[in-house]
Amino acid sequence: MAQSKHEKIERSVFLMIVLTLLTVSVGGLVEIVPLFFQKSTTQAIDQKGNTLDVKPYDPVRLVGRDIYIREGCYNCHSQMIRPFRAETERYGHYSVAGEFIYDHPFQWGSKRTGPDLARVGGRYSNEWHRVHLLNPRDVVPESNMPAYYWLDRPASVADVQAKMRALNLVGLHKYSEEEIAGAPAAVEGLTELDAVIAYLQGMGTALQNVR
Ligand code: HEC
Repeated sequence: MAQSKHEKIERSVFLMIVLTLLTVSVGGLVEIVPLFFQKSTTQAIDQKGNTLDVKPYDPVRLVGRDIYIREGCYNCHSQMIRPFRAETERYGHYSVAGEFIYDHPFQWGSKRTGPDLARVGGRYSNEWHRVHLLNPRDVVPESNMPAYYWLDRPASVADVQAKMRALNLVGLHKYSEEEIAGAPAAVEGLTELDAVIAYLQGMGTALQNVR
């Protein structure tokens, strides 16, 4: 029986590997490359093309965000509401790509020991967050979230300008020299708690009231 073309491929490991890699990379490129050019993934717009009021991180929120990363909050909290009814009923409008254009690196996460935080901004008062972060059980008795009592100390002012310069290299928003010069004064005198709370309060507010 004559060997079919397919048999030839299946019998040659080398050919099989090369053709598999080729197929996978073409498939991958077709899916990934357009994302870099789609407005909905590179601009602050929602799924219908409406402009969202997403703001670049100001120095205080930037410092808070880095504390969030440092403390590993993402190990228990996602920031990504999936487009399912059970999620939107609980958290609000599902997340859209345009909301994350200033997030480098993004904090979508995949583990939810605690609730998703993508729309937590404005849900509680600053005072609630302060008490909750210092000892979660003071407001949610059954909580198993760790107490972050050490955050009640001055936030570091020393590296905020470096953070902004670093984001200028990778981010969509370019901080001006003026913004960078004013950053230490904005953070001066604040605690790490203040910064984390500012970060949390700004989360997801651009699409919060849409259902
Ligand atoms: C070990 C897992 C864990 C870690 C780490 C963790 N959390 Fe939580 N978090 C939870 C759980 C569980 C809840 C739900 C109970 C509660 O409200 O305390 C929660 C609730 C919250 C809430 C209230 C959300 C809502 O919608 O009610 C906020 C805000 C929050 N966490 C912020 C943080 C921040 C900021 C950090 C990092 C400094 C952090 N969490 C770290 C487990 C965690």
